[in-house]
Amino acid sequence: MSGQENTRFKGGLPDYLIRHTTFRQMQIFEAVVRLGSFTRAAEELFLTQPTVSTQLKKLTDVMELPLVDQSGRKLKPTEAGESLYLAIRQIFDCMADLDTRMADLKGVRRGRLRLCVITTAKYFAPEILGEFSREYPDIDISLKVTNRDRVLERLLNNDDDLYIMGQPPEDADNIKVYPFAENPLVVMSGRDHPLTKESNIPLERLAQEPLISREVGSGIRDSMMKLFDKHQLKPNIRMEIGSNEGIKHGVVGGLGLAILSLHTLELEGAEGPVDVLDVEGFPIKRQLYLAHSDDKALSPITQAFLEFALIREPMINTRMQALYETFSKRHKAQRTKNQRCETVR
Ligand code: PGA
Repeated sequence: MSGQENTRFKGGLPDYLIRHTTFRQMQIFEAVVRLGSFTRAAEELFLTQPTVSTQLKKLTDVMELPLVDQSGRKLKPTEAGESLYLAIRQIFDCMADLDTRMADLKGVRRGRLRLCVITTAKYFAPEILGEFSREYPDIDISLKVTNRDRVLERLLNNDDDLYIMGQPPEDADNIKVYPFAENPLVVMSGRDHPLTKESNIPLERLAQEPLISREVGSGIRDSMMKLFDKHQLKPNIRMEIGSNEGIKHGVVGGLGLAILSLHTLELEGAEGPVDVLDVEGFPIKRQLYLAHSDDKALSPITQAFLEFALIREPMINTRMQALYETFSKRHKAQRTKNQRCETVR
């Protein structure tokens, strides 16, 4: 080894990195790359933009290579920047785990929990998190809600601690999954839609109705398209809305029918302005999963949350079954009433 290389490493650590980089610079660089913007990084870290630029310049000088490329429309890390970003993420994950373990040793239940879920889980996950945080008041929680494609991307990148998703990918072997709550798909309409009076509506009839669909990349859309494909039908998609709540408003506004998870009616229940239609083959039974990357050990907090959530599965299922039952009973009562009226006439 040359004399210069000898001075570059001390105790197995690259001396120039220890002397000339700071955690603050790494934190700034991580935020710039993750958010793809100097402005957003500055906002997130409560810094001014010149501070962000200066610190990034210092880090670039230490690395002696450009770290970000701003030539396109979106700021991107260079190859060197990408390597640095991955290293920083590992360092930060290690430090966060260390913090949790230290707190554990002190008998304090502290730590960080980053949960990322498909849109359907946003209707019950915050409630479980609320209960969990009453038992663990000192934890720092973040909840990211996005569609199936984005959740998969984040899971494969190991961006979060735990995920709630639909069907897990079949070809990924470094992912651990735990079957979780039921996720029934139903057909929704406004309360005054003529189809609310009918029972066992054929799928062909549904395919003719204008539908409001989620965006490409959504698990709900994927299930819906597979169903129509299986029956060699083409749905009449009138419009796309990238939000379950937006779709429910569209349904109430008469823009069309929609296929969504029954979980989306969690708050308003059967008394709200949305009705569930009796369509053949529905509700489509689907399942949710808790998942995490198997690349590193779960932090004690994540492990505790995983167990906490799994225990709540029967409660979530019972609630959904009861809600579906309420819709069915109301329809049955309504149909009996209509039949009686017709007989009298
Ligand atoms: P999505 O997934 O948010 O990607 O549509 C929800 C679901 O599959 O229930």
